[in-house]
This record gives sequence, C-alpha cells and structure tokens, in this order.
Amino acid sequence: MIFPETRLRRLRYNSILRDMVSETQLSVNDLVMPLFVCPGSNVRNPISSMPGNFQLSIDLLIDECKKVVKSGVKSVLLFGIPESKDEHGHVACTADGIVQKAIIAIKKEIDDIYIIADVCNCEYTTHGHCGTIIDNDVDNDLTLKTLAKQSLSLAQAGADILAPSDMMDGRVQEIRKILDENKFEKIPIMSYAAKYSSGFYGPFREAAESAPKFGNRNTYQMNPANSDEAMREVELDINEGADIVMVKPALSYLDIIYRTKNEFNIPVAAYNVSGEFSMVKAAGEKDWIDQNRVMMEILTSIKRAGADIIITYHAVDAANILNM
Ligand code: PBG
Repeated sequence: MIFPETRLRRLRYNSILRDMVSETQLSVNDLVMPLFVCPGSNVRNPISSMPGNFQLSIDLLIDECKKVVKSGVKSVLLFGIPESKDEHGHVACTADGIVQKAIIAIKKEIDDIYIIADVCNCEYTTHGHCGTIIDNDVDNDLTLKTLAKQSLSLAQAGADILAPSDMMDGRVQEIRKILDENKFEKIPIMSYAAKYSSGFYGPFREAAESAPKFGNRNTYQMNPANSDEAMREVELDINEGADIVMVKPALSYLDIIYRTKNEFNIPVAAYNVSGEFSMVKAAGEKDWIDQNRVMMEILTSIKRAGADIIITYHAVDAANILNM
C-alpha cells in the first residue's frame, strides 16, 4: 500500500497513541550516576566544566547518594581523587584508599544502592597515565598487577561490580582470576571494552585531576576511526569473562553500540561522557538549545542504539523528568 491509503502520520496525531507505539522506553532502571569523591570533610568543590557536578568528601557524598537514590536512580559509579599520588597507582590498592573508604561509608548508611567501582590508575599516578610507565609508555603486563590489586581491594571494601577502564590487554582475565581466587566469584565485571581515545573526556580530567602529564592515551585507548577493532575488543573481553561490555563515549559511537548489541548476546553499557554532558549544559545556558529536551533525546538515542545501561551525569535530572 502506498499513499493515499497509507499515511504514517495517522499514528502521530494522538499523544496517547504515540506513546503506545513508541519503540524505545527510557527508564530510571537504565541509568547510572557517576560521582567524584575527594579527601576531607564538608568539601563540595564545583567542577567548573561540568555544572551541577562536584568533588565531594565522603560525608557529603553520602548525602548526594541519598539524593540519587531518592530520584529513582539506583546505581552510582565512583571515581576517586586521592590525598597523594605515586608512580604506579599503589594508593588505590589499599583498604584506606579514597574509593574504598567511600564504599564502606555508603554501604553503612544506604541499603538500596548499587555501587560500581571504576578500576584504573590514571587518577592515582603522578604522571596521569593509566598504568606503570616504562620507556615513556604504559607497560601492559606490569599494569595488570596494580589493576588486579586495586580490584581485589575494591571488592573487599564492598563494591558491587568492577568496571575496568584502563584498556590494557588481558585485564579482564586477570581481574576475574584474582576475584575468584578470593571468593568474590559473585562480583561481576563490566569492562570498558571499546573505549576510544577521545576529546570528549576533557571535563572529566578536570573533575578527576587525571590528565596525562605527557603524551596522550593513543597507545592504549582506541582510534575513533575504528569499528571492526571494537568488535575484537568486545569479543576478547567476553572471552576473558566480562559480564557486561561498555562502549565509551556514547554519542559519537552509536554505531559501535548498535554493532555490539547485534553481534553479541551480552548486556551492553554506554558511557555518555563528560564532554557530551558539558556541551549540552553550555549550549543550554546560552539558550541555544532546550537543555532538557536535548538531554532526553540523547539518552533515548543511546537506548535506541542498543544500550541496556546508560552511565550519565544527566542521570538524576533525567530521572526527575521520567518521574513527572
Ligand atoms: C579513567 C576514566 C576516564 C573516564 C572514565 N574513566 C578518563 C580517561 O580515560 O581519560 C572518562 C569519563 C568522562 O569523560 O566522563 N580511565
């Protein structure tokens, strides 16, 4: 049938019907809120490039987590800003690490929250790279050792799931091994499987104080031009034991999310990263776009592309709109 018998607008005239035939449903269950924890007490440092986001000391982080849970968002992803840094990121491998302490404190105060712990060294090394430096580059196999130690320590602190974001080869296998050897076989791994070397991380590096002091991350994070390679990364992580695979960033990589969802039978997470968030905020502040409308459109498009889980700094704002 063709026009005039077929008129696709017939399904668009009534808003109730439009909702009934809507193919994609964004839900608060899909959303994860990233938070930044720093030393001290009563600290709430605004992150200038990410309006509405703060470096929070543990006491205020707990208040923030309560606010997140109240909005209906049930999960947070924690990043730490440590008191001091070292060459290898050892400060992130002990029970008194900033994220470990935060997890213990949150779990003591809040029952219904699911804590995702980022596993990486870049916030904890003096040079800002994601691992141990040998000959001016991150050494893969040495870095696996700190990643495993950090993972075990985060699991011991009570992390519900670990999310390695370093992009070293073989890290999922190494983390799975140390978890299983220590009776943490129930803790899942959500690997940043296809993580690109992206300009969209700029604001995060201000937030986490994790910008590399020299060079860039091109020798471990992926080339934005590549898609087949992303499928190899995803496949390797699944074979090494990843329970959920992540694509990051999200918006410029919707095709990667789509391919991952179609080619593999595994839950897919997408990280709507800091730069994607900040662009919406900046244009919204100038009244160049309708901020809330664009936010919901972006999150819906990430879901439509195939993401089951969306990590986003918009999580609470989006939940408040979804709850209306
Ligand atoms: C750490 C890490 C980064 C992000 C999440 N984990 C930054 C990076 O790789 O430099 C970026 C998140 C964001 O931009 O919101 N490895």
